Amino acid sequence: MYKKIYIKTWGCQMNKYDSNKIVSYLLSSSKKYHLVNSLLNSDIIILNTCSVRKKAEDKLFNYLNIIKKIKQIKNKLIVILCGCVATKEKEKLFNKFNIIDIICGTQNIKNIPLLIKKFIKNKKKILNIKFINKIKKNVNFINNKNNFIYNTFITIMEGCNKFCSYCIVPYTRGKQISRLPEDIISEINYLVSKGICEINLLGQNVNSYCSYLSNKKKCNFSYLLNLISEINGIKRIKFTSSHPINFTKDIFLCYKNISKIVDYLHLPVQSGSDRILNIMRRNYNIDYYKNIIYKLLDIRPNILFGSDFIVGFPSENKYDFKLTLNLIKEIKFDNSYVFIYSPREKTKAFYMKDDISILEKKKRLYKIQKLLNKNYIYWSKKMVNSIQKILVEGYTKRNNYYYGRCFNNKIVYFKNNENNLIGKIINIKIINNKKNLLYGIIL
Ligand code: SAM
Ligand code: SF4
Ligand code: F3S
Repeated sequence: MYKKIYIKTWGCQMNKYDSNKIVSYLLSSSKKYHLVNSLLNSDIIILNTCSVRKKAEDKLFNYLNIIKKIKQIKNKLIVILCGCVATKEKEKLFNKFNIIDIICGTQNIKNIPLLIKKFIKNKKKILNIKFINKIKKNVNFINNKNNFIYNTFITIMEGCNKFCSYCIVPYTRGKQISRLPEDIISEINYLVSKGICEINLLGQNVNSYCSYLSNKKKCNFSYLLNLISEINGIKRIKFTSSHPINFTKDIFLCYKNISKIVDYLHLPVQSGSDRILNIMRRNYNIDYYKNIIYKLLDIRPNILFGSDFIVGFPSENKYDFKLTLNLIKEIKFDNSYVFIYSPREKTKAFYMKDDISILEKKKRLYKIQKLLNKNYIYWSKKMVNSIQKILVEGYTKRNNYYYGRCFNNKIVYFKNNENNLIGKIINIKIINNKKNLLYGIIL
């Protein structure tokens, strides 16, 4: 009997990468498994969850209420909850939502095929949450069509030892573990053989990657970047998220020497106020952060920066907030994210007074969003009339436009009659910027 699997993913790119892995594990474990796009039409529902903010958890709980109704009709439906909420809440979730059959931790997803078999046999709820703190072995994705177009993410390290005062991730992803360099290289070689030409290295703090080669030689992030750059088929290298504190001298050298590293860096700063950064336990100040930015601009004058910002952190006053606005104006961050502070149990900040009203938090969020939008348009307008090399990512049927990304990560739309441009790097002249979208023509 075929089993139809529906998988829903919330959260960061690492969760998306993990969902692809789950699908690969399942499809390679049995020919009976099939992936479907419809929740109603499924036999097994897998929910890969995020708990970084309360809002993410609320979305999951609403979704579980919908599944509850489906399970009333389809009582054989198997519901699996994995990811960060699973790891954080553990068996408590069985009490809260009786419909969940299997709870599986972030470091245990490889077991999912086995857990399903066990559940079908014994009909008993299963909890499998254990920090293995072991390096994960190579996973070669199979059958998951979306992976094999032109670019993909690849996790190189997982977990976090930094314990910023607001963040739940160290509790849901465990201690920092870096994958073996040879494993990463062999996975990238495999992906290149399937047509991948752009790789996006993933990690909670990707630039704190540190491992050892089989000859016992140390392999830090810059060493790994050099190894990857030597792979012929790889044309572009991206990575996310970097932590300012791990932005060491050798990484600057990579920007100098490795032309495949793109002209875009996502470097979350969180706040423009040294006082707030200190309470957030970020371990750097704004001068240190700006020094990274200006050094990189010296090496790569066209580089654009992105960041994450938290507004309404406990005790953030108007002056602290103004400093954040000033920083955004000065650096002119491009594509960035801003979040309202959300107290998370277990974290240090949870025990501080959440003293900024929601109205004020929303006002600050809106102000930053407005400024970021202005920056976004500023950079887009600057690109009009320039010639850009873009990697074609896709095609929108709605208005027959192709789209692709420039070397600085900006998206450009263009028309073309030729087929099969997807995955190719082509030259485009940007001709205008309409409603926040860049349009170009092929040269
Ligand atoms: N490791 C990355 C770093 O240190 O910059 C960030 C990883 S975290 C999963 C992604 C973003 O979520 C953070 O940069 C932060 O802005 C935001 N975030 C984390 N905890 C939060 C909280 N409690 N409330 C609001 N935003 C939060
Ligand atoms: Fe969270 Fe800080 Fe670790 Fe980033 S560095 S994942 S914000 S604890
Ligand atoms: Fe969310 Fe976990 Fe990622 S909490 S942001 S899915 S590491």
